Amino acid sequence: MSDIGPILLLNGPNLNMLGVRQPEVYGRETLSDVVALVGETAARHGVQIVDFQSNSEEALINRLHESLGNIAGIIINPAGFTHTSVALRDALVIPDVPIVEVHISNVHAREEFRRHSYVSPIATAVVAGMGTFGYVAALEFLVRLLGSQDEVAP
Ligand code: DQA
Repeated sequence: MSDIGPILLLNGPNLNMLGVRQPEVYGRETLSDVVALVGETAARHGVQIVDFQSNSEEALINRLHESLGNIAGIIINPAGFTHTSVALRDALVIPDVPIVEVHISNVHAREEFRRHSYVSPIATAVVAGMGTFGYVAALEFLVRLLGSQDEVAP
C-alpha cells in the first residue's frame, strides 16, 4: 500500500446511464467499466478508490460531508450540476483536499451553457474531452501530486 490516502471518485447525475446515454458524445463504456478502469490504475499505485454516483445533489453533498478527514483527494464529474450548483461547490471545499474536475466530453466545444463551471475555480485541475480516459489521467495526476506532497512533508 502507498502512503496516499483514499481517493473519492464522485459521479453526478445521468452518469449511471453511461454506455447508453448519447454514445456519440460519451462513448460506449458503462460507469462500471470506468470505475473498474480507475480501480485497476489505483491498485497499481497501491491507492484505494471510494466510488459514489448519484443523481441527487443532496446525496452527493452528504457523501462529501461524510468524507471529511477520510480522503486524500477527489475526482469528480459533477455532470449537469457543474453548471448549476453553488451548494455542490460549497461542499467540495469542505474536505480541503485536491480536487480534479473531469468531463468526458469537451464542454467548451458544446453548448454555451456548458462553458461555465461552478467547480473549476476551486479545482486543482480540470480535464475535459479525453473521453473516459480523463478519469485515469485525473488519478495519475493526483497520485503524482499527493506523492510529491508526502516527500516534502516533515
Ligand atoms: C459532462 C458534461 C456536462 O455538461 C453534462 O451535463 C454531463 C456530462 C461530461 O462528462 O462531459 O452530464 O460532465
